[in-house]
Amino acid sequence: MKKLSVAAIQTSPEFGNTWINVHQAINGIPPQCDLAVLPELFATGYQFLDRAEARALAENVHPDLDPGPVTRRLTEVARDAGTTIVAGLAETHGDRLFNSAVMIRPDGTRDIYRKVHLFQDEKNIFDPGDLGFPVFEACGIRVGLMVCYDWLYPEAARSLALAGAQLICHPANLVLPWCPEAMITRSQENRLHTITANRVGREARTGEPLEFIGLSQIVSPLGKRLDQVAAGELGTA
Ligand code: ACM
Repeated sequence: MKKLSVAAIQTSPEFGNTWINVHQAINGIPPQCDLAVLPELFATGYQFLDRAEARALAENVHPDLDPGPVTRRLTEVARDAGTTIVAGLAETHGDRLFNSAVMIRPDGTRDIYRKVHLFQDEKNIFDPGDLGFPVFEACGIRVGLMVCYDWLYPEAARSLALAGAQLICHPANLVLPWCPEAMITRSQENRLHTITANRVGREARTGEPLEFIGLSQIVSPLGKRLDQVAAGELGTA
């Protein structure tokens, strides 16, 4: 396999402060990086009060539609930096709303995955993903996407592996402590690299307050943790 320079960008979004969040994430992408992964819902923050609030902050991401403003900005950055960017976004599509991951290549093309395993109150906000677990070409390899809580369901990573994925990009907003270790197993049992990009910080807008655990990481197909960002810090693995 060709050697790639990859990164997981660990951010600390402020809820609803889209352009500050986008700026922080883009600034974290290292130069000469082939592929960079940003966290789940990186531009909006996580704890929406209700579906109407999420809809107001969501945008078109699907490749058949004109992209919303954050997708457009990421497309410019991908082109200018020569970096394929994977990012978690709140996606509108007609009257539906998804917790999605987009992969945007330097040539401006993009593909999406819509989160299948919604976590806790996300079920009151988003529709469950309806695209299965597709695998895409990027950077000369086959790349699968998962979003956060998909980590708990081994079938997600296994479906991507069976479809030929060599790398899984995994935008996340992790709150449970077990995912970083579980992703070592997901890498090892499926013999593929995984990149988990998580956030830090706290949100207490509704329901239970949430502390996001950080610990973004890159893991090899043999289950070796190649790099990890510290729990409470901003940084890049
Ligand atoms: C999660 O799926 N954001 C915990």
